[in-house]
Amino acid sequence: MNYEAVLAGLPDAVIAVDAEGRVVFWNAAAEQLTGRSLRRASGRVLKELLPRDVSVVRRLEETLATGESRSEAESTIETTDNRTIPVSVVTAPLFARDGTVEAAVAVLRDVSRIRQLETEVRRGETLAAAGRMAVGLAHEIKNPLGAIRGAVQLLARELGASSPLRDYTDVLRTEVDRVNRIIEQLMDLARPVEIRPVPLNLHQLLERVARLVEEEARSREITIVRRYDPSLPPILGDEDRMLQVFHNLVRNALEAMPQSGTLTLVTRVSLNPLFGKMDLGAGQRTMVEAQVIDEGAGIPATARARIFDPFFTTKASGLGLGLAICHRIIEEHRGTIQVEPGPGRGTAVTCFLPIAKSS
Ligand SMILES: Nc1ncnc2c1ncn2[C@@H]1O[C@H](COP(=O)(O)OP(=O)(O)OP(=O)(O)O)[C@@H](O)[C@H]1O
Ligand SMILES: [Mg+2]
Repeated sequence: MNYEAVLAGLPDAVIAVDAEGRVVFWNAAAEQLTGRSLRRASGRVLKELLPRDVSVVRRLEETLATGESRSEAESTIETTDNRTIPVSVVTAPLFARDGTVEAAVAVLRDVSRIRQLETEVRRGETLAAAGRMAVGLAHEIKNPLGAIRGAVQLLARELGASSPLRDYTDVLRTEVDRVNRIIEQLMDLARPVEIRPVPLNLHQLLERVARLVEEEARSREITIVRRYDPSLPPILGDEDRMLQVFHNLVRNALEAMPQSGTLTLVTRVSLNPLFGKMDLGAGQRTMVEAQVIDEGAGIPATARARIFDPFFTTKASGLGLGLAICHRIIEEHRGTIQVEPGPGRGTAVTCFLPIAKSS
């Protein structure tokens, strides 16, 4: 049995150091996780190689000193390109024949996917709770609203078309309809979204959304740029729901650029290590990315954790439901939605969606 080959092929990063703390083993997963090659790592003192990853280094030093195993569930690794990856660390001593500790080995597991899923679950729970409350509320409000609307219609008819008081009944009706729409949207959040997924051409869908906002974009000197991957396979999605998602995202992007700017629509087959493949029950499914990028002011770090919360808004006339609804719909499609700072400035929102055929 070639144990070295087994260790080399493990998905977890395996790092071993000798009694002086010099790297004596560094598998492929360790290269990938830290962004440092075996050649670069081999023989180097770990503390110098990973100056910022104090906890891994410290745990190994403790193991070397005491001969005891150590573990840490919530540690991190800094990659060479300055990303922080959450990892769990377990160390173990390797004993020489005379019983002294001659080396220590650390196993590091990348837990970013798990952390991401935990965040998703928490977000989903908040939405579900808000949705349940909304349904209760909506039932109480919808009936009286229906009665008001009926009464307003009767009143309008009584007044006749020429009455100057018709302005008031018109206001009443429009506003009642507006409240109704808000309630409908809230109920959307609560009830399980019934999606009817069919193979969809994402580009045609994005073009339909672009057409909806074209006029407004032109009047505000906003250029819409397309960067579509021509070989993009069809996605599996519910057409109306997907339109709703991208309409919301594009509206947010336009609202983020009060005067002039560029709105970029991007599609590509995802190579993202976390969301590029998704298990939809019948094996791994390739995902595509649809991205809406704006050149607005961006989302302040303090707001980033809350933008998917229902009713979180920084806009005078916003409801704060757009992204909550998008999240809900994408989740029903087994996709993921990610919000990041845009390149340079602004915001980039990425939707990961499954392709129609498994691969
Ligand atoms: N592209 C963006 N650029 C900057 N901030 C954004 C962007 N998209 C969303 N946000 C922030 O997230 C908040 C929530 O967005 P969301 O779409 O859920 O609600 P809204 O746009 O405020 O209202 P609604 O969509 O219900 O009309 C916004 O108020 C804004 O602060
Ligand atoms: Mg919005």
